[in-house]
Amino acid sequence: MKSLVCISGASGAELGLKLYKELRKEHESFLVISDAAKKVLSLENGYNDENIDAPPSSGSFGVDATFITPCSMNTLAKIAHGIADNLTTRAAAVAIKERKKLLLAPREMPLSPIALENMLKLSQIGVTIAPPMLAYYSKQQSLEEMENFIVGRWLDLAGIKNSLYKRWGDD
Ligand SMILES: Cc1cc2nc3c(=O)[nH]c(=O)nc-3n(C[C@H](O)[C@H](O)[C@H](O)COP(=O)(O)O)c2cc1C
Repeated sequence: MKSLVCISGASGAELGLKLYKELRKEHESFLVISDAAKKVLSLENGYNDENIDAPPSSGSFGVDATFITPCSMNTLAKIAHGIADNLTTRAAAVAIKERKKLLLAPREMPLSPIALENMLKLSQIGVTIAPPMLAYYSKQQSLEEMENFIVGRWLDLAGIKNSLYKRWGDD
């Protein structure tokens, strides 16, 4: 499994980083960070989002699963309208045209009708819309456990086995 994690400038960039760290334990994984995300995260590794000629911009690179976690409303809108002006939006366009797994984790509150329309449009063409939503049914005791639940669900949705959280029905 070859995976790509793109971190856009929405709140919760740490979740994307956690997902990337989890994926790279067992899978060939790559990271893209938008300029806005860098400001949010002040981090400096991975591909630069302006690096439009980096390998993930081509379908021939063969990424199996692309995660945009978190996904800003700006990046969501661009993807929904076919705009591919940086490495993240280009990677999303590639995943859509190649009919590969694409998961977006839009993070904003409240959501505008425009954002909701963009999510519906993408969902209807097979993109997984999986916002970082809190859950209490597996009795998380800490922020870390809550984050593990969200990242674990993203991995589940891409068909990647993990034991990051206690599943419903587990003892
Ligand atoms: C501290 C901070 C938090 C932000 N949180 C969000 C957010 O949760 N959701 C969102 O859509 N935009 C958020 N923004 C705004 C985006 O960073 C901004 O729209 C940016 O242009 C997105 O660029 P990108 O989509 O290329 O990453 C935030 C900005 C800052 C500075």
